[in-house]
Amino acid sequence: MEKEILILAIESSCDETAAAVVRDGREVLSNIIYSQIELHTLYGGVVPEIASRKHIEKMNQVVQAALDQAGVTLQDILAIAVTYGPGLVGPLLIGVSFAKALGFAAGIPFLGVHHIEGHISANYIEHRELEPPFACLVASGGHSHLVAVKDYGEYEVIGRTRDDAAGEAFDKVARAIGLGYPGGPKIDQVSKQGNPDAIHFPRAKVEESVYDFSFSGLKSAVLNYLNSCQMKGEEFSQADVAASFQKAVVDVLVEHSMAAVREYGFTKFAIAGGVASNSSLRAAFAEACKKEKIAFYHPSPILCTDNAAMIGTAGYYEYRKGVRSGYDLNAAPNLRLE
Ligand code: KG4
Ligand code: ZN
Repeated sequence: MEKEILILAIESSCDETAAAVVRDGREVLSNIIYSQIELHTLYGGVVPEIASRKHIEKMNQVVQAALDQAGVTLQDILAIAVTYGPGLVGPLLIGVSFAKALGFAAGIPFLGVHHIEGHISANYIEHRELEPPFACLVASGGHSHLVAVKDYGEYEVIGRTRDDAAGEAFDKVARAIGLGYPGGPKIDQVSKQGNPDAIHFPRAKVEESVYDFSFSGLKSAVLNYLNSCQMKGEEFSQADVAASFQKAVVDVLVEHSMAAVREYGFTKFAIAGGVASNSSLRAAFAEACKKEKIAFYHPSPILCTDNAAMIGTAGYYEYRKGVRSGYDLNAAPNLRLE
């Protein structure tokens, strides 16, 4: 029998300190996430310096908890996979330095993993049958990418945002209507009480590319609407604004994604990233994929937002291809996927 491949994965690109142990790519033995959200809520967004300091403080405990919960020790681990970009440079450096030090001390090889590749790979964990090729929409706080997953580790970005990421738009609009940080989950919740057709916000198209996105105009339209309410001395409905904004984002994401699916002839479609945990977005994609007669895949919400299990899965396929990093591995805040 082939020896099982146990990977210890580390993720610290933003405000989650996370570690996981993954067996043979798709079986998650532990998935520990220490979320710093409460710490950053006070400032209305992630403060990089505070995030870095908290990662340093928590990393050791989180990694030990991941090993303990999996019932393994470092001697059982074949490789350490660590997110090295894209993300915030300080937070990334904590994970990368930790992985190098641990790898050196324990004599375990380590490899750098692309954060977006991690998000996409989250789909493999709960869908054992899912194999490339497929199309994947990655929508998170920092990215909105429409990706053709040609093979394991082989990607073509067919659409991307020209300005704000989808999650960023959620966070900014949430702040403007008084919901605070983090905006995505709050807008998702409040929208359930609102009318998504109450206000018509624009669905932006990018002239040169039908698959690209633009959300800054939508954000401005919401701010203009709030301003005009204020000028007229009218109260606005938080729930209606949230629901109408959310519908505008979801409509655009679905329309552009399905156009790509048709044009490229994909039979499988997946979503990933923090915004993929949005209930209205999940329902809309489920319906659209049914209409297109293609299979639809989505990770559980806990595997949509930042976690290390997804890094372990992506790391497994890279490891099998022979990818290993050297001690010169550096944090790459603007790392590209292709
Ligand atoms: O993937 P993620 O955890 O971190 C990044 O890599 O950026 O994504 C975080 C983003 C935030 O902008 C957050 O507001 C958004 O995902 N988000 C949501 C929901 N949950 C998280 N957006 C809409 N609806 C949600 N339920
Ligand atoms: Zn992420």
